[in-house]
Amino acid sequence: MKSLVLNHKMNFNYDEVNEYIKNINDVKSNKINLVICPSFIYLSFFKYNNYYLGSQNVGMMEKGALTGEISALQLKKIGVRYCIVGHSERRMLLNETNEMINKKINHLLDNNIIPILCVGETLEEKKASLTFDIIKEEIDRAFSNISNIDNIIIAYEPIWAIGTGMVPTNNDIFITIKEIKDYINGKYSTKLKVLYGGSVNSENINVLEDINNVDGYLVGGASLDFKQVKSMITAMEAKYDS
Ligand code: 13P
Repeated sequence: MKSLVLNHKMNFNYDEVNEYIKNINDVKSNKINLVICPSFIYLSFFKYNNYYLGSQNVGMMEKGALTGEISALQLKKIGVRYCIVGHSERRMLLNETNEMINKKINHLLDNNIIPILCVGETLEEKKASLTFDIIKEEIDRAFSNISNIDNIIIAYEPIWAIGTGMVPTNNDIFITIKEIKDYINGKYSTKLKVLYGGSVNSENINVLEDINNVDGYLVGGASLDFKQVKSMITAMEAKYDS
C-alpha cells in the first residue's frame, strides 16, 4: 500500500488546525496509508482513527535534562507511529548532522516508531552529477550500527524541488529511486519503501503516479490545503484501483 505523508512544517495556528482536523477526520481510505505530521504542540489534537500520526522531529537523547526537546518514548506514548528525520530544512538551517540523525533513528526504532529518513541533493550537486553520491552517504551514515533497518522508510526529496514548484522528470525520479532501492538491497540486504517529496500537489500527482517504483509521497505546502489533500488521495486511490 502506498503512503501519503503530510508534513505541515511550522504552519497552522490554533483555529486553523482545529478546522483542518474537522475535515480530515472525515477522510477514510483503505487503499492508502495516510500519515499526518503536524507541529508537536498539535499532535495530541489529532484523533488518528483513520490515519496515522507522525512527528516532524524527535530529540537525540532518551530522556533527561534537555530543555525543549521531545523524546521518542514521549511521542510513542501519545500514539505517534512515524517520524520524519533528517529533513533538509533541519540539516541546512539547524545544522542537523548525519550523526544526530543516526542517534534519532536509533531511539525511534527502539520505541517502534518508523523513521522517515529524508535524503536528496542540492541543484549544484545535481548539476555536478553527484545526486547518488550524496544520497549514498546520507543513507550509510544514518544507518551506521543500526540493526533493524527494515523498519525505515526513505523519502527522496531533491532540495531544489522543495517548495519551488520544480519537480524532476518522472524518469529522473524513477532512476534515483531505483538506485536507492538497489543500493539498499545490495548493501543492507533488505527492501525499503521509498517516497518522493518536493512540490507534490493535486495537479501533478496524476503524472507522478505513473512512476512505478514510488511507494508514496511526502508533501509539504499542498498538505495544508484540505481540498488538495482530498484530491491527492482520490488520485492515488484511482491508481490503486486500476
Ligand atoms: P513541498 O511539498 O512544499 O515542496 O515540501 C516538500 C517537503 O519538504 C516535505 O517534507
